[in-house]
Amino acid sequence: MRVLELFSGLGGWRCALQDRGSVLAAYDVSEVANATYILNHGHEPRARELATLPAKELADLGADTWLMSPPCQPFCRMGNHKGLSDLRSRAFRHLMDLFPLAPPDRLVVENVEGFLGSDAHALLSERIRAQGMHQLDLQACPSRFGLPNQRPRVFILAARRPLKALPAPDLPPDPLADFLDAVEDERLYLRPEILARRHHGLDLVEPGDRRSTCFIGGYGRRFVGSGPFLKTDRGVRRFSPAEVARLLGLPAGFRFPVSLSFEARYRLLGNGLSIPVAVWALDHL
Ligand SMILES: C[S@@+](CC[C@H](N)C(=O)[O-])C[C@H]1O[C@@H](n2cnc3c(N)ncnc32)[C@H](O)[C@@H]1O
Repeated sequence: MRVLELFSGLGGWRCALQDRGSVLAAYDVSEVANATYILNHGHEPRARELATLPAKELADLGADTWLMSPPCQPFCRMGNHKGLSDLRSRAFRHLMDLFPLAPPDRLVVENVEGFLGSDAHALLSERIRAQGMHQLDLQACPSRFGLPNQRPRVFILAARRPLKALPAPDLPPDPLADFLDAVEDERLYLRPEILARRHHGLDLVEPGDRRSTCFIGGYGRRFVGSGPFLKTDRGVRRFSPAEVARLLGLPAGFRFPVSLSFEARYRLLGNGLSIPVAVWALDHL
């Protein structure tokens, strides 16, 4: 596959691609995401606003596969449900305008469950149909892939040949203990006064548990509904960014630029893909 990685973030699609192909170009507006991408993949994404990507630039790349994770806020359970009319969907709409001009042979769009049945889903399906391509909509959660983390996602696949759903794995999740840092960072512990104030809404898990809720980009700034907190003998703490990266199935050597704050790391991870689930989605192509 000759891949365009659109909305590339920290490069989840590139990790999942493995030896199936090569990324010709990645695109993301975020400097922080691009610095993390370069550090891990040795390739510099194009720091450009995709809503104004010229058709010629896209066609000149000669890619045959588009892999993309457009912003999910317009489709999130806790978002505004504005779909295509949300400004953050502008780039996706533009890409859908470009689709007939330089159609790829394969495409995967990853998003939250609310994407299914949305106006964006309808537009994408219409574009796929108009090219005479086949479509397959998949839903999967890493908790069935041996990972003790919930991150239900949808994958809209399109290809020139018929697509057939493969059975999703049904592996029991490993305990959270297997994903924890060998040495804890003291800074992750919540101060007693914060804990006293916030204790109620927190999603608390223990190292022996085999489940955890989804980490969102606001983890580290918000408490309730942003992800799980770990209860240990010493108190209650956040998961470290490295632990979240392991729970997403990112490769062992995955790193962040040293200057990046915890909050920025959580934001990138909260936007990221669960790699084993993305690998499974690509297995269909
Ligand atoms: C859901 S995240 C994608 C995460 C990615 N799949 C990963 O593995 O990390 C969306 C990304 O799109 C980028 N983005 C959002 N709007 C954009 C736009 N209009 N043009 C280019 N990049 C955009 C954001 O900076 C963010 O990194």
